[in-house]
Amino acid sequence: MPASTDNPTGPIVPLSMRPRSGPYSGLNARSAKRFLTAQFSEAGLPTPDIDARELVLAATAMTHSELIANGTEFLSQEVFAQISDYAARRLSGEPVDHILGRRGFYGRDFKVTKDVLSPRPDTEVLIDKALAFLKPFKAPRILDLGTGTGVLAITLLTELPHAQACAVDISQKALSVARVNAQSHGVDDRLMLLKSDWLSHVDSSYELIISNPPYIDAQAMAALSSEVAGFDPALALAGGEDGLSAYRIISAQARDYLTPNGQLIIEIGFDQGRTVPDILRGDGWDAISVSQDLAGQDRCVQARKPAL
Ligand SMILES: C[S@@+](CC[C@H](N)C(=O)[O-])C[C@H]1O[C@@H](n2cnc3c(N)ncnc32)[C@H](O)[C@@H]1O
Repeated sequence: MPASTDNPTGPIVPLSMRPRSGPYSGLNARSAKRFLTAQFSEAGLPTPDIDARELVLAATAMTHSELIANGTEFLSQEVFAQISDYAARRLSGEPVDHILGRRGFYGRDFKVTKDVLSPRPDTEVLIDKALAFLKPFKAPRILDLGTGTGVLAITLLTELPHAQACAVDISQKALSVARVNAQSHGVDDRLMLLKSDWLSHVDSSYELIISNPPYIDAQAMAALSSEVAGFDPALALAGGEDGLSAYRIISAQARDYLTPNGQLIIEIGFDQGRTVPDILRGDGWDAISVSQDLAGQDRCVQARKPAL
């Protein structure tokens, strides 16, 4: 069994600077992962081990258990070159999901590009809330505002085989990404994609309106880490001067597009658990509640269409 000659605790030589043959022809998937972890760690990346694992798994087309069970075979020149390229891109700040062009959400993979926000695990709480609310409906209609990758509408359509959805975005490029994701998850026949400035072109009623709007205020936008600012589109992040612009529009208008007792489920920033409910209260929404994400941060506001 070929063993790695590389010492992960020794000096770290970037993979891209290593010879393509000779001593490193002995590199295997496990030792490549160790090297990447050490390099990423030294570079101060926040999750070196996870990033290294994801990149090595993608380059080698292995599953995690295959890496553990048989990651000791030599890497081919091609895979070595691919890992070197991934490592260099990660070290230059590019996030793993942009390097790989995909991101997992609620157990499924979604295509991501520079034109869409990479779905975040925090957003999964909206899906849990939506599924709980929609349970009694046989064929619910869902409106997703600011769909990006399409992750909210597509996940709900996948979970609810009789549901129909309309997914709105102001970005045509985002809608194109959502179309590919809808096709790859086999729900495109139940999803209408609509270019619209929030509700301006929406003309039906829905049991549920779900949204993860841009909510970062101007000051925080200026201070965003280069990783977020450089790779997620500003359109998906910037929520105006106080971060609340989209909430004001959606709160004022969404009620007209909900069926009686329909609900709004909307993502918020961790520090918006008071301000967003206040906006909704001011517009007369009923049964307003705030829920937390897995990290215990305020993340989701749910409200019922006002009776009048
Ligand atoms: C925070 S991202 C959410 C993407 C996706 N729903 C998710 O949860 O990962 C916000 C989305 O809102 C879209 N957006 C921004 N302004 C908009 C507007 N005025 N009307 C419709 N969509 C808008 C952006 O293009 C972006 O795709």
